[in-house]
Amino acid sequence: MTAAGSDPTGPGDDGDAKAVRRVKATVYVATSLDGFIARSDGNLDWLPKVRSGSGNASEDYGYRALIDSVDFIVMGRRTYEKTMSLGEWPYGDKSVVVLASQPVDIPDHLASSVEVMSGPAPEIVRRLAERGAKHIYVDGGKTIHRFLEAGLIGRLIISRIPIVLGSGIPLFRPLTRDIRLRHIRSRPFRNGIVQSEYEVVA
Ligand SMILES: NC(=O)c1ccc[n+]([C@@H]2O[C@H](COP(=O)([O-])OP(=O)(O)OC[C@H]3O[C@@H](n4cnc5c(N)ncnc54)[C@H](OP(=O)(O)O)[C@@H]3O)[C@@H](O)[C@H]2O)c1
Repeated sequence: MTAAGSDPTGPGDDGDAKAVRRVKATVYVATSLDGFIARSDGNLDWLPKVRSGSGNASEDYGYRALIDSVDFIVMGRRTYEKTMSLGEWPYGDKSVVVLASQPVDIPDHLASSVEVMSGPAPEIVRRLAERGAKHIYVDGGKTIHRFLEAGLIGRLIISRIPIVLGSGIPLFRPLTRDIRLRHIRSRPFRNGIVQSEYEVVA
């Protein structure tokens, strides 16, 4: 799903534009109340631990359902490197695309599911569409920004953590236009997290 009224591939490329538009792209992030996704040094120590197990008592804020629903996870290099630094790879054998313009170290045990790509965001989506992608999860602040700016994001699910960090890596950055959203739902959790879902309308 892409933002109505924008053509992510530009004029004169109808087939590609249609293929790109058919790919639904979702952002799923946790932010501080003041809109940061990480401390300035990338630290995530302020995020509550997510229990992603399948037990009845676990609460994963819809994370597992989202991961199960996507064909590809597309993440920025910095998010990949942060994930790797945490030790345990959380995505199993789900296909992951790391966007990077510089070399990225992919360990052998992930080589069959993790690949590196670079290029303009519409081109990335077009390549994934060619490979049958229908729903992708876009992750990483700079990466989300580039996809949003290109009109490629259809849905945002933002979990606001009740903390003010004052500084950090922002979810949103300066844009060349406004992005209008439709509020779908908000869900409060007992621990104070409020998860809101929005659809990009234009
Ligand atoms: N709170 C949350 O839910 C959440 C979610 C995700 C991430 N995070 C955190 O956010 C931090 C990372 O975010 P970030 O904004 O710094 O960076 P990011 O988006 O993860 O990575 C940015 C890098 O990705 C590469 N990139 C992005 N688009 C590209 C493209 N189209 N082609 C080629 N390369 C592309 C570039 O790497 P090169 O420098 O190689 O060009 C760019 O510098 C980490 O600390 C992570 O843990 C938090």
